Amino acid sequence: MCGITGYIGGNKTTDILIDGLKRLEYRGYDSCGIAVIDARNSLYLRRVSGRVGALDKLVAAEPVKGARIGIGHTRWATHGVPSEDNAHPHTDCASQLVVVHNGIIENYLELKEQLLFAGHKFKSETDTEVIAHLLEEKLKTLHVQEKAVRSDMLEPVFFEAFRRMLADIKGSFALSVIWARCPHMLLAARMYSPLVVGLGKGENFIASDVSAFLKHTKRVVFLNDGEMAAVKEDGVDFYTFQGKKISKDCVTIQWDSTMAEKGGYKHFMLKEIHEQAEAVENTLRGRLLPLGGDILRREIGLSADAMRSFSGVQFIACGTAYHACLVGRVLFENFGVPASADIASEFTDRAGLLSDKTLVVAISQSGETADTLFAVREARASGAKVLAITNTVGSTLTREADYVLHTHCGPEIGVASTKAFMGQLAAIYLLAGHFAAARRLLLETDARSYAENLLKMPRLIEEILEQEKEIAKVAQGFASSEHFLFISRHINYPIALEGALKIKEISYVHAEGYPAGEMKHGPIAIIYAGMPLLAVAPSGRALELMAGNVEEAKARGAEVVAIVDSASKKVIKASRYITLPLADELFTPMLTVIPLQIFAYHVALAKKCDIDKPRNLAKSVTVR
Ligand code: F6R
Repeated sequence: MCGITGYIGGNKTTDILIDGLKRLEYRGYDSCGIAVIDARNSLYLRRVSGRVGALDKLVAAEPVKGARIGIGHTRWATHGVPSEDNAHPHTDCASQLVVVHNGIIENYLELKEQLLFAGHKFKSETDTEVIAHLLEEKLKTLHVQEKAVRSDMLEPVFFEAFRRMLADIKGSFALSVIWARCPHMLLAARMYSPLVVGLGKGENFIASDVSAFLKHTKRVVFLNDGEMAAVKEDGVDFYTFQGKKISKDCVTIQWDSTMAEKGGYKHFMLKEIHEQAEAVENTLRGRLLPLGGDILRREIGLSADAMRSFSGVQFIACGTAYHACLVGRVLFENFGVPASADIASEFTDRAGLLSDKTLVVAISQSGETADTLFAVREARASGAKVLAITNTVGSTLTREADYVLHTHCGPEIGVASTKAFMGQLAAIYLLAGHFAAARRLLLETDARSYAENLLKMPRLIEEILEQEKEIAKVAQGFASSEHFLFISRHINYPIALEGALKIKEISYVHAEGYPAGEMKHGPIAIIYAGMPLLAVAPSGRALELMAGNVEEAKARGAEVVAIVDSASKKVIKASRYITLPLADELFTPMLTVIPLQIFAYHVALAKKCDIDKPRNLAKSVTVR
């Protein structure tokens, strides 16, 4: 998501931090900042809403003397709009402690309440700021007041307060703090968000990814979840969160900086495909249990009463996000909640038919898609309430919606959407589960099994990602095909559409997604001998009918690649199979889409297309 840099050592601290931030720019961000401790042990903090170039100019205009330690951050908003106040680093009340953080502190509201009660003053809307105040509070309980602690005791006290602070925070984090009273040690910790230490000579580094410091050292130590580091000029010590000292292996990175930006993947799209298990975890974290309870009211203001009051749900979006809407429609209808889904640019007159009894769910990765925004405005003009599902905090859509459910997927750089789609699906399943439970359409045992199914998804996604090589081989066999058909039924029909869209976008070949049952009403005429047809056919109520549709296509010469599981493989007769782990049919779209993304990627790779920046496409479509 966001980017972290940290440095201790020579006297070029600000240059090194800013250079590190520039190398993290590719990750996408909306604001940035650095904090260093100067020669007089004062904190120097500079932040901007906008680019690292602007931060660089600000620092150059007021250079700092003698700083040998500092931290920096590029922020991609998750809590609070993009602004200078919300940019990291964040300080405690006394501006002595300063923190940078990637991830989400799940219990920040609860902690903030306690800290406000204890008299702390907050300056931002972020979850991160609680870390600085909590640490200040821990130092207080260790009786650290001016001159009360011998200078040789400051390091152990800082370390112990940090450790106690870590015990109180929940969620995902990579974080680093420095303390003006203890300028010889930087502390860093990791839980579910990457953090790496770079080992230099007389200087050491930390970062959220190696590209930030690869120019200075290739010798690195990767922290695992639940581990922390005390980083000094002359060495780094590693500990568990319980304070037990551990030894860690140092590895030498062979990547150049471009490879490092992509985490060793050839393209951002491939990297993002591989980030999908994490995307689901981030979207669900802390929001699922208990289904139908108070969670959505507390986070986004959507109460169980409100969920009961709507007569139906209307989804609107464009492109890939529209395919997520189609899954949403089937899911809500499965629970008996009337739902429809429309392409935003085709919504026009339907908006006039809405009332305050309809919940409009507008889905947009960027939150800036003009067609979606226009449809939202029309819907609101009819009195409908709008719930936005978006990946972009502070986007126009978030400002115009009544409720906002962020997907927390991190920036998506590849133009073809993959992990953002997965986050949208996770958010829809989350919303549908809460809706159904609030309306008593999902009773206790079923609610538990629904949640369990959802929580299993990241592990199943990882299992599929491990099959990339086999899927690539299948794709390479079709690199010269000029037409592709994708078919499926019910909740996986939108996935057939998404598979076709992915291949069109990045390979520039003709592809169609069709409801399998509709093929014989016309489109079957286009099938020719050897035409690739991808049939999405997991086990479930559509299986027998899918098997028939596959036979019809084969009889006309189609070369069928079947996306199956171990049970449906026995029913579908295809020439090639991609076999997925078994899952409840209702949840399969989160799985079946992955082989189609990988398939599209490898067809495009074999065709040597510009995968991350396909021709004629833009990441954000702000015109109608
Ligand atoms: C496809 C893709 C587009 C977007 C569409 C909507 O890979 O990226 O189809 O899904 O332009 O964009 P957002 O979600 O930003 O509203």
